Amino acid sequence: MEEKLSVNHLLGIKNINQNDIKLIFKTADNFKTVINRSIKRVPSLRDITVANIFFENSTRTRVSFELAEKRLSADIVNFSSTSSSVSKGETLIDTVNNILAMKVDMVVMRHPAPGAAVFLAKNTNTQVINAGDGTHEHPTQALLDAYSIKEKLGDVKGKKIAIIGDILHSRVAISNILCLKKLGAEVMVCGPATLIPKYIGSMGVKIEYNLQNALKWCDVANMLRIQLERQDIKYFPSLREYTMQYGINLQTLQNLEKEIVIMHPGPINRGVEITSDVADHNQSIILNQVENGVAIRMAVLYLLAMKKTENVKN
Ligand code: CP
Repeated sequence: MEEKLSVNHLLGIKNINQNDIKLIFKTADNFKTVINRSIKRVPSLRDITVANIFFENSTRTRVSFELAEKRLSADIVNFSSTSSSVSKGETLIDTVNNILAMKVDMVVMRHPAPGAAVFLAKNTNTQVINAGDGTHEHPTQALLDAYSIKEKLGDVKGKKIAIIGDILHSRVAISNILCLKKLGAEVMVCGPATLIPKYIGSMGVKIEYNLQNALKWCDVANMLRIQLERQDIKYFPSLREYTMQYGINLQTLQNLEKEIVIMHPGPINRGVEITSDVADHNQSIILNQVENGVAIRMAVLYLLAMKKTENVKN
């Protein structure tokens, strides 16, 4: 019997289990082979229509989902808040129900409000994939990050991953912690005390305020951007001081007595959390993460579509 996901939507890593993650990885392995062929398209989602609704800026996630859908032969509609009637005061549910009336099967949504994807799944009759909801979750980013670690180091279990930077405003950090813990990794967060949320210890992670200690401990450093657009007060004196305390440069890497893997979900602020020579270093897997994002999103779209077919049959 074909393996299935335990969920009908991908709202967060919180809602899926280890078997789901392993199934997504196994399916992504197959799709990675497909997208590296000269003919990159398969008919798996033919006759399925996906709406990509982005109410917040995005490069990687938006393009990656669109490419994943195209590679699976889905029909696609794209819209953003500025180009839609949301800007005229229409509610999110009305907007989505109008799209669904045009026979859309699945919605991929990025939204600035935490919980927006859950709200949509509860209040509309469609399959929802969360492409990032405020400071809450970014599940496909966490999946592609963990997949990239597995690809580079052979396994995630037992590996030591340090997530460094603006943890307080980061949906990537939350989803990564949940995903990595479900796969048996040890996780540490590191940053200024003002950017480490008080509840984070309850997620079973180590907390470190000193960058050198974090780098000496870890196998992988996942560097996060300072999310100035979500900060309405000052959390540190200046970006320059942040970089001096928590930025990684080539010298920092070379001073370590071992090789660590460098990751970044993007977008990178070169010269702030990471210098160009580190971003482009052969220990960096930043572009592998982007490449793997397409295969992971193909896997998620495909497995959710299979789930819908199963629900219709029953
Ligand atoms: N990593 C990520 O979510 O990047 P975008 O904001 O460009 O989609």
